[in-house]
Amino acid sequence: PTLIVTTREGEERAVTGEAGLSVMEVIRDNGFDELLALCGGCCSCATCHVHVDPEFAAKLPPMSEDEDDLLDSASDRDATSRLSCQLQFTSALDGMRVRIAAED
Ligand code: FES
Repeated sequence: PTLIVTTREGEERAVTGEAGLSVMEVIRDNGFDELLALCGGCCSCATCHVHVDPEFAAKLPPMSEDEDDLLDSASDRDATSRLSCQLQFTSALDGMRVRIAAED
């Protein structure tokens, strides 16, 4: 499946990711080093924060309490915010757009 990633500078690039990886891994494996993902996907750092295309919101897994709490610490949080390590990339998400959130 394809993921369309927008960087903080507004540059957009479509990348291919393997289904079963997390969206964070797909972004990181494609060389977007501004997505720090410091905790490596353990849902404890919030540096994998992205804004997700609202069209895909219903296809995403529900947000855990931990994710919700962590996102509260992000200054750039809005209704489209998710931690990308908590989103499994599947074929249902083909063509989804994500924008890397501002750094805190
Ligand atoms: Fe740390 Fe997602 S990589 S919370």
